[in-house]
Amino acid sequence: MEEKLNDLRKIIINKVNEVNNLNDLNNLKVEYLSKKSEIGILSNSLKEMSIEDKKVYGKLINDFKNEITNLIDNKKVELEEIELNKKLENEKIDINLPATKIPIGSPNILECIVEEVESIFMSMGYDVVDGPEVEEDKYNFELLNIPKGHPARDAQDTFYIEDENILLRSQTSPVQARTMLAKKGTEPIRMICPGKTYRRDDDDATHSHQFMQIEGLLVDKDVSLSDLKGTFDVLAKKLFGKDIQTRFRPSYYQFTEPSVEMDISCFNCHGKGCNICKNSGWITVSGAGMVHPNVLKNCSYNPEEWTGFAFGFGAERLAMLKYGINDIRVFYNTDLREVKNFDREVVEND
Ligand code: DAH
Repeated sequence: MEEKLNDLRKIIINKVNEVNNLNDLNNLKVEYLSKKSEIGILSNSLKEMSIEDKKVYGKLINDFKNEITNLIDNKKVELEEIELNKKLENEKIDINLPATKIPIGSPNILECIVEEVESIFMSMGYDVVDGPEVEEDKYNFELLNIPKGHPARDAQDTFYIEDENILLRSQTSPVQARTMLAKKGTEPIRMICPGKTYRRDDDDATHSHQFMQIEGLLVDKDVSLSDLKGTFDVLAKKLFGKDIQTRFRPSYYQFTEPSVEMDISCFNCHGKGCNICKNSGWITVSGAGMVHPNVLKNCSYNPEEWTGFAFGFGAERLAMLKYGINDIRVFYNTDLREVKNFDREVVEND
């Protein structure tokens, strides 16, 4: 039997040495250690032996089994280590490789400026309200002191729908009338209304037949032009920087009296003169004025009791100034090369 075991040992050692994966090793284990293997059969034959023989051969067989089991177990550890190293090698991460860029969207720059203006006005207690883009002549013109046939309508020719009383609003000012009428002349108002407007306009780089305005209206007791100046000052400084100056120039609108243009000092050249301010040192950003008594009256507010101011900004114009954009179409044409330039957080000025 000893000889037989020696032969078997040699065969098994050779085979174990040759094996190079865990699966084959497992097959060897079954082949040489299971009940049906040669060793298994030899173990089984012990039953028929005398007690003395059992002792001698039992030990021989057991030692042999332990030896082979150890041999296979050691080989298993060795193979497992090789496989693990192979896996680590394959899954190695090279941290020097450039990262895959994950594209993330960014808000439209026009939307950013509108939200910025909204949050500045909300911090001063204003509501943000909405109004219809398809509007009635009554709200867009008549209640705002622009009766039918008034020459001021020429500058705001727009798209008419069905008949001459339904139109795409040419300004956001009708939301002033709607807000006042909804309040029925009984309570103070602080509101802004950002929204789309439509107008026959020169299609050049700074004008478009569709653009956005941000309307504002404040109605209360004893409101004066200096309240408007103070409000505009807060907005200008928050939007363009602490050292920005503001000024009013006389103007004319049918729904305000007196009317003004609101200018900011040029944030680029600080008044010295450059191409942004057309060498004047000042940039006009909004029309404004004290709400005309006729408009208050038309919209159920008693002008003897109430006063107010109103203003209207071109939202694209604010964004063009703030971000140095020189073509209004950038906002609408969804060209990713342009939009991606604004792939960053908008930081508000204190
Ligand atoms: N609605 C005017 C326009 O479209 C802008 C404007 C001027 C609005 C003066 C106002 C204002 O509320 O008071 O040109």
